[in-house]
Order: sequence, then structure tokens, then C-alpha cells
Amino acid sequence: MTQTPASDQQTALVTGASSGIGVDFARELAGRGFDLILAARRVDRLENLRAELTEEFGVTVDVLAADLSSRAGAEKLHRDVQGLSRPVNMLVNNAGLGRFGPTLNQSVDELDEMIQLNVTSLTVLTRLFAADFKQQGGGYILNHASFSAIQPPAHYSVYAGTKAYVLAFSQALNQDVRGDGIRVTALCPGFFTSEFLTKAQQDPGLIVKLIMLKPRAVARAGIRSVLRGKPVIIPGVGFKLLNLVLRLAPRSFATGLADFALKY
Ligand SMILES: NC(=O)c1ccc[n+]([C@@H]2O[C@H](COP(=O)([O-])OP(=O)(O)OC[C@H]3O[C@@H](n4cnc5c(N)ncnc54)[C@H](OP(=O)(O)O)[C@@H]3O)[C@@H](O)[C@H]2O)c1
Repeated sequence: MTQTPASDQQTALVTGASSGIGVDFARELAGRGFDLILAARRVDRLENLRAELTEEFGVTVDVLAADLSSRAGAEKLHRDVQGLSRPVNMLVNNAGLGRFGPTLNQSVDELDEMIQLNVTSLTVLTRLFAADFKQQGGGYILNHASFSAIQPPAHYSVYAGTKAYVLAFSQALNQDVRGDGIRVTALCPGFFTSEFLTKAQQDPGLIVKLIMLKPRAVARAGIRSVLRGKPVIIPGVGFKLLNLVLRLAPRSFATGLADFALKY
């Protein structure tokens, strides 16, 4: 069983809390009584969210400016959190970025930006906070992967590769650090509404619009799962079933299906 830290008050660090599902993670955690540290580059948005959550839930919220597009940025965020002198016992590694389109139309800089944010910074933060959690006697890490980690769609090749890394890394690490009272969960949702598709430059077709999940429900499933120590969570009955089918199907069929779903 995961032990709670010396103080009864729980504190969660949420990266990428300035838009999209990061806001829902923050709301879900505040609703459960967690104090919060919110991190992203757009600090004005974090400040607005801080005011809202403090007023509505009466929790303590700190805001940290963080650019996680490099290892140095992730290390700085860890130092900044330590500087707050508030023991954190949950890390929600949510900040992430996708690029849609033929891989050869994506510049090497764009691909590197995705890998730095989705893989390098997530790994560095996980490693640094896991060491703190071990010292404290336990903690929770929720790593945001994607359903594309399970079935990589064409035109999201590098993004899907980064998310497959997040899934494999989190699953293995969960087993690795269980004895230290640390629980690691990989969250693998399908599409949901946020700024993601616009930034990825994907114009969603009918199928994507029809299968869109609700971000608040995804955030709730993620938080509930990490608190219960589940290694992997695929939100939504439809995606759970699809996962089972895809596990049995030939890979060429599965890849073709994902391609079709994104085209129409
Ligand atoms: N939307 C989907 O359909 C979907 C499906 C599966 C998984 N996901 C995953 O969900 C996570 C959240 O994305 P979202 O859908 O909520 O999209 P979003 O609205 O674009 O949110 C992305 C968040 O990441 C932060 N971020 C981006 N680059 C950053 C950087 N260099 N340094 C620090 N923070 C950075 C952004 O904040 P700033 O720009 O203010 O820094 C923002 O708060 C991502 O990991 C994504 O891969 C999304």
C-alpha cells in the first residue's frame, strides 16, 4: 500500500495546466481536496485558474512558469517545486504536443520538440520526483500517454512513438518502484476536445468527431486509476473493446483501421 506523506495534506504538481485537459486534472484534484502546483508557459492562464480553484474549493494553489522543451527546463521545474518547500506526493505529467501530417513534411526541429517535451522532460520529471517520493515513503505518478501508444495512426508517427515510450516506461517503472510505495499509471485516451488538434494542425473528420471523449471524464478516470494503483487506464468502454480487438487483429489491419478513422 502507498503510504501518505508525514503531513495529511496531499499536494499535486500538474504540468500543462494552462489549457485542455490539464485544467480538468486540476479541477478533479482540487475537488478531491488536493493542494496544487500548476506549471506551464502561459502563466496568465495559470493565474486565472489559481483564482478560480482557490475560490471554489478553498485549496492552496501555486503557479510556476515552466518551459519543458528541454531537459534543463524539467530540472528547473523540479528545483522550483523544491523551492516552494511543500512536499508533493502526486506528479501529473500531462504537458504534451502532437504534429499531424506526413512525417517527411515535418521538420527535424518539430520532431525534436515533440520528443523533448513528450519523452525527455517527462522522464526527467518522473525520475526526480520518484526519488523524492521514495524518501517520503510513497507517491503517485500519472503519465499522460495516448491511445496512439496502443495503435499508432499514420501521420502521427513520431507522436505515437513518443506515447508508446510513455506507456512502456510507465508500465515497467510501476513494477520497478512498487516496493518504494510509488504508483505509476499510464493514461491512454482516444481523442478529446482541447487545443491539441489545432496545434497539431489536424482538421478532425466525422469519425474523430464522433468518437471524441469528454476531457473531464478522462481526467477523472486518470486520477481514480493512479490513486488505485492501476498501471494502465484506457478510458471509455468503446476504446477498451477496441484495444481487445486490436490485440487480436493482424497489425496491418489495425494500422489500416487507424488510418481510415483519421481520414474520414
Ligand atoms: N487531445 C487529445 O485528443 C489527446 C488524446 C490523447 C492524449 N493527449 C495528451 O494530453 C496531454 C494534454 O494535451 P491537451 O489535449 O490538453 O492539449 P493542449 O490543450 O494543447 O494542452 C497542452 C498543455 O501542454 C503545455 N505545454 C505545451 N508545450 C509545453 C512546453 N514546452 N513547456 C511546458 N508546457 C507545455 C501547454 O501549456 P503552455 O502552452 O502554456 O506551455 C498546455 O497546458 C498531452 O500530453 C497530449 O499528448 C491528448
